[in-house]
This record gives sequence, C-alpha cells and structure tokens, in this order.
Amino acid sequence: MAAPDEDRIELLTRQLERERRARRSAEDIGEAATAELWHTVQRLEAAETDLREDAEQLRYRQRLSRDMRQRKDPHAVMDLVVRSLGPRLDVSRCLVYFTDRTETAPSPVQWTVPGIDRVPTDMQTPPTMSALASEFAARHESLIITDIETDARIDPASAADVVRRYGCRAFASVPLKSVDRMLGWLVLQSREAREWRPQDRALLDGVAADLSSALLQVVAHQAQEETVRTLREVSRAKSDFVATVSHELRTPLASISGYLEMCLDEEFGPLNPNQTHAMTVALRNCGRLQELVDNLLDLSRAEEPPEEVSTDVEVDLASVVEDAHRSLSPAMDARRITFELETDGAPATLVGHPAQLHSVALNLLSNAVKFSHDGGHVRASICRHGTHLTLTVRDTGHGIERADLAHVFRRFFRTSTASERAIPGSGLGLSVVKQIVEEHGGTVSVDSSPGEGATFVVAFPRRS
Ligand SMILES: Nc1ncnc2c1ncn2[C@@H]1O[C@H](COP(=O)(O)OP(=O)(O)OP(=O)(O)O)[C@@H](O)[C@H]1O
Ligand SMILES: [Mg+2]
Repeated sequence: MAAPDEDRIELLTRQLERERRARRSAEDIGEAATAELWHTVQRLEAAETDLREDAEQLRYRQRLSRDMRQRKDPHAVMDLVVRSLGPRLDVSRCLVYFTDRTETAPSPVQWTVPGIDRVPTDMQTPPTMSALASEFAARHESLIITDIETDARIDPASAADVVRRYGCRAFASVPLKSVDRMLGWLVLQSREAREWRPQDRALLDGVAADLSSALLQVVAHQAQEETVRTLREVSRAKSDFVATVSHELRTPLASISGYLEMCLDEEFGPLNPNQTHAMTVALRNCGRLQELVDNLLDLSRAEEPPEEVSTDVEVDLASVVEDAHRSLSPAMDARRITFELETDGAPATLVGHPAQLHSVALNLLSNAVKFSHDGGHVRASICRHGTHLTLTVRDTGHGIERADLAHVFRRFFRTSTASERAIPGSGLGLSVVKQIVEEHGGTVSVDSSPGEGATFVVAFPRRS
C-alpha cells in the first residue's frame, strides 16, 4: 500500500512545484508589463510637455514676428528682438549685429540683465570667436558654446580672454542670412555655463530667420520710400522749371503777336499782299505757340502736390461748361458748329478746384470743336449717377481710330488725322484733363470710331 501512496505524494509534489513555477512566471510577466506601461506613460507625458512647449514657442514666434513687421526702421526691429528674447531665454546679454551694406563694423543693438555691462560699441569680437563663428556660418550653422572654459575647440588663453571681455561663459551665435549674403548675427551670452536645449536652439534659429526677413523688408521699404521722395522732388523741380520757362515765354510772345497785329492793321504803313500773307502765317504760329505755353502751364499746375491745391470748393459743373462754351463760341460760330448742354435738372455740384475744372471742360470742348467738320454739332451732358457726376462731351467730327484710343491721354500724342489735316495742337490737352480728373478722384474715358465722332466721359465723385 505504501508504494502507491508514495507515488501519489511524489506526483502531487511535482504538480505543486509546477504550479508554483507557473505562478511565479505569471507574476514576473505582470511586473514587467506594469513597468513597461509605466515607462510608456512617462514617455507620453514627456512628449506632451514637449509638444506644449513647441506650440507655445510657435505662438511666441508668431507674436514676435508680427510685432517686428509693425516696426518701420531696422533699429526698432532689432531692439524689439533683443528685449524680448533675452529675458525669455534667461540669458545675461542678447545682441544683434546687423551689417547694412554701407557699414563695415556694425555696433550691436543690445539688451543686458542688471549687473552685466553693455558690450562697448567699438569693441572688436575676439579673433578666435569670430573665426569660429564665421566657420560655422559658412556651413549655415550656429556656434553653440556650453562652457567656454571647458570647450575643446577654444584654447585656454583665448577662452580666458573671452571671459574677461564679456564676463560670460556660455554663448550662442546665430547667423542672420538673406539668400545671397550674411546680414549679421544674433548673439546670446550667459554669465554661467549652460546647456542649450534643442528647444532653445530651435527657437533661436526660428527667430533669426524671422528677424532676417523682417530686416530685409524694412530696409527695402526704406529704400523704396527714399526713391519715391527723390522722384517727387525731381517731378516738382521739373514742374517748377516748366512753369518758369512757360511764364518767361509768355511776355515776349505777347509782344511779338501785338506788333504783328499792329503791322497787319497797317499802323506802320501799307503792306503788300506777300507781306500780309507772311505776317498772317507768323501771327497764326504765334497763336499756336501761345496755346502750347498755356497748356504747359496748366500741366505744371495740375502736377502740383494735392496738398497745395485747394479742392474744397463747391463747383457747379454746368456753369463751368457754359463758361468754356462762351470762350469758344466765336470759333464755333465761325465754323457753324452748334452746341447744346443737356442736364437732368438736378444740381450739378461737386467739390473741386474751379480753375482746373474749367480747364477740363475747355480742353474737351475745344477738341470737340477742333476735330469737327464745319457745320458739325457738339453736345455736352451732365448726369448724376448715385455718388458720381458725369460730364459727357460728344461730337460729330473726324473720330479716332480704335488703335489710337488707348494713346490719346498720353502727352504729346496726336493722331495721324490731326497731323495730316494740320489741325493745330500740341497733344497736351487730354493729358492735362486726365491728370486733373484723377486728382479729383475721378476717371476719364473715350469711345470713338473713325468718321463717327468721339465721345469723352468724365466721372467725378461728388465729394472727393
Ligand atoms: N474730339 C476728338 N475727336 C477726334 N480726335 C480727338 C478728339 N479729341 C482728341 N483727339 C485726338 O487726340 C489727340 C490728343 O488730344 P489733345 O487734346 O491731348 O491734344 P491736341 O488737341 O492735339 O493739342 P492741345 O490740346 O495740346 O492743344 C489729338 O491730337 C487728336 O488726334
Ligand atoms: Mg486738345
């Protein structure tokens, strides 16, 4: 009996041992799984913190970049960056060196914590540092130094010199670059040795890129403003010149035509037919010259800067057109050209410069007359369209080739018809019209076909 019992005990003992081993390994597996889970959770938490920091950093960059773009000069942009970035990265000194093409040794714009001196503006960067930084910049990299006293790239004597000059041991020098050249450096310095975390370096690179493009933009904007200023001055000098010359020409011209008229009136004795013909031609050309001078004067006046032109007077456009018609009526009568002014009955007032508006009406009407056949008809109409007032001048004259329509507002442009038919003019009237109309905030357009007359439409805002 004993043997089977012993066998049974033996069997049970082995079974027990197997179960014990199985339980122990299950416990081991559970422990390992828990540990792995724990590590995963920790990794996830760290990743979340990084992500949060990245997102916060991105928002910071966006704000800083937006603020940079609101600054109008390079110094203000750099000042903003050093004041913002220094405290954010908790360094002792933050500097920007910016090389405008004209400057060779730029002095830095800088920010420092209390207790740290500003770098003297005339201090040269120690040769070891500038050589190392340039070497890195050539590879499009930043020079990052955790502790200059233990940095293998810098010999101890140079390191001691750098610490003595700057009072700092940790450095970050980030190059500022445009597509084709170096613009300068963004430099951070820290009194104590410090690790520059990957996030810090990413932020530095990002801010350096934003700063480079903001500086380029500001400099380009300044250059553009300078060019516009110069152009305005040139344009004003030209207008002054034209005005002076035209003015100076008027007096002798008046004298010449006066004497010619007296000769033709035979106040100095009788003239033979040849003399009469010659003087008539001379007088006619004198008249053309006077017209040209008047147009040049109008043009230079129209080009005066708007602030010098009073445009705040209520002007009745219908009276302006009637005035222009009155001064042209002798010429119209002589060539049997009829005229009508059509209005829709509503007040035709706009705010503008009376003399210049008179010049607009006179130029359009005189063209309509000049380029009409004898016995033609000119119709002016004034209409209100909402906030605009339009003046339309239509004639039944020679008309304009379609290809020429785009050019008639250009200075000195005259159609071949005008030249072939020897219709007097200098090609300036319509450019004066366009200039004045645009200064009043309006537009002018033309429509025409050869042989079917021309229609000019001017639209003014009623309050400019
Ligand atoms: N109503 C029109 N009918 C046909 N052609 C016209 C008309 N108005 C202007 N043009 C064409 O446009 C050209 C330019 O007109 P613009 O008024 O500038 O110069 P102009 O009349 O020749 O000279 P200015 O006005 O300086 O005495 C004219 O020479 C003419 O060829
Ligand atoms: Mg004209």
